[in-house]
Amino acid sequence: MTDKKYRPRRSCLYMPASNKRALEKAKSLPADTIIFDLEDAVAPDAKEEARDNACTALQSGEYGDRELVVRVNAMDTPWFAQDLKQACLSQADAVLVPKILNADDIIQITDFMEDRDASLDTQLWAMIEMPEAILKLGEIAALAGQQRLTTFVMGFNDLAKEMRADHDRAIFGPIMTQTVIAARAYGLNVIDSVYNDFNDPDGLAAECAEAKKLGFDGKSLIHPAQIEIANRIFAPDADEIAAAEKIIKAFADPINAGKGVIVVEGKMTELLHLKQAKQLVATAQAIGMLTE
Ligand code: COA
Ligand code: MG
Repeated sequence: MTDKKYRPRRSCLYMPASNKRALEKAKSLPADTIIFDLEDAVAPDAKEEARDNACTALQSGEYGDRELVVRVNAMDTPWFAQDLKQACLSQADAVLVPKILNADDIIQITDFMEDRDASLDTQLWAMIEMPEAILKLGEIAALAGQQRLTTFVMGFNDLAKEMRADHDRAIFGPIMTQTVIAARAYGLNVIDSVYNDFNDPDGLAAECAEAKKLGFDGKSLIHPAQIEIANRIFAPDADEIAAAEKIIKAFADPINAGKGVIVVEGKMTELLHLKQAKQLVATAQAIGMLTE
C-alpha cells in the first residue's frame, strides 16, 4: 500500500488521548494531522480510558479533513495488541508505532493488521527513535509499498535518552539527513521531531526552517501555539511559487518545445526543475494557497 494522494502534513499535533479538553479543542485547530497519543503522554492507569477516548474521537466524524492518527503503545507492552486492533476498527487514517527496531517489527505489525481486516485503509507510521532503527533505516524503509508503511516520524526525546546524548539539535543533523534519504529512496513521507519549549516561537521556527531545508514534510507538535508556525514554514512561500510558475510557463512556451534545458531568470533550468516546480505548485494547491 502506498500513500498515493498527496496530503499536507506540515503540522502533526500530538495530544494525550486522556485529555478530553485537548481532544475537543483539536476539532477547531488548523493542524493538518492530529495524533491521539496513547503512549508516552498517558500514565499507565489512564491507558484504557485514553484508548476509548481516541476511538470515540475517530468515530465522531467531528474532525473535518484533518488526518487522524493514533500513536499506540510499543509492541512489548501489554496495551499494544488492543491499541492496534481498536485503532484499526475505528478506521484511523494511520497507526503510529513507537520504538520500532527493524524490518521484522514492520512485518509483524502489518501481519497483525491484515489478520484483522485486509481491506482496511489504515496506514502504518513508524517512530524512528531507537538506535537500532537508525542502523536499519534502509531495511525498514524498503518495506514501503509492499506493507502498510507510509511515514517515518522522528522521535528525538527517546533517541537522546537511548544514545545517552544531550538533546542538542546539532547531534541529530546527520541522523535527520540519513532518515530523509531512506524515506525518499522508497517513497515514504518523513516528519520531524517535536520542539519541547512550546513558549519559544523563534526556536520552533528555526527548527521548522532547518527541517524544511533538509527535506522533511512537516513537524510533530505538542501545543496549539506551534501550529501556525509549522503551517507557514512548511508551505511554499510566495517567492517559491512565483519562481515555480515562471519555470512552468517557460517550458510551456512554444519556442522551448522539445527542449531538455533552457535558461530561466539567468539560470540553467532542466526538465527535473520543471518536475520540481510542478510538485511545488501542486503542494500549494493542496494547501489551498492557489485557487486553480
Ligand atoms: N492538543 C490540543 N489542545 C491542547 C494541547 C494539545 N497538544 N496542548 C494544550 N492544549 C490546549 C489546552 O487544553 C488548553 O485548552 P483550553 O484553552 O480549552 O483550556 C489550551 O490548549 C492552552 O494550553 P496550555 O495551558 O498553554 O498548556 P497546558 O499547560 O495545559 O499543557 C502540555 C501543556 C505540554 C502538557 C500540553 O500541551 C500537552 O499535553 N501536549 C502534548 C504532549 C504529548 O502529547 N506528548 C507526546 C508526544 S512528545
Ligand atoms: Mg517517546
